[in-house]
Amino acid sequence: MNFLGLSGSLRKASLNTALLRETTGLLPEGVAMTVRTLEDLPLLNPDQLESGFPDAVNVLAAAVKQADALVLASPEFNYSVTAVMKNAMDWLSIHPDAPLKAKPVALMSASPSAFGGGRAQYHLREILIYPGARLLGVPEIMVTNAFNAFNEQGALTNQTTRDLIIQQMQALKVMIQA
Ligand SMILES: Cc1cc2nc3c(=O)[nH]c(=O)nc-3n(C[C@H](O)[C@H](O)[C@H](O)COP(=O)(O)O)c2cc1C
Repeated sequence: MNFLGLSGSLRKASLNTALLRETTGLLPEGVAMTVRTLEDLPLLNPDQLESGFPDAVNVLAAAVKQADALVLASPEFNYSVTAVMKNAMDWLSIHPDAPLKAKPVALMSASPSAFGGGRAQYHLREILIYPGARLLGVPEIMVTNAFNAFNEQGALTNQTTRDLIIQQMQALKVMIQA
């Protein structure tokens, strides 16, 4: 099985990209996960669709279509997802291959706040209603106080958080098989 992790952050030292990278080491047996960022996507302007979808969007849509499940990690910006993540979901929502339709999706976030990016996750759930994704409910992964959550090697230091991610990934695998 193949999961695709998409980060909504463009930062090199992103906590959310680090969270996805950590997750690649916490997967159930028989599952692999590729992590990618979204800086290559242009801003969506429907006027420009007459000349077709940009190559970067077609590449992303194909990767999403081919993945058995998505793991989305977005920073919380002003209580919502980043424009980067929203732009990617908007592109995917209008792509003719409907890559998000019935796609199992798990959400996670990391933030320096005490909320761990949870408010952004709830917006992302709403955003994914129309494109028809299947959202995993629980466990929810919201890494709080996240500048202190990773060690210098980028590993999550809290065992409870690691265990929750293991459980979430297991639940995502079960969801695919259901
Ligand atoms: C424009 C902006 C708005 C932000 N708004 C929030 C917010 O609403 N809630 C929150 O927890 N953190 C907020 N932050 C802080 C981010 O959570 C923090 O920068 C985090 O490191 C971003 O994730 P990243 O490390 O994956 O890039 C905001 C940061 C920026 C730049």
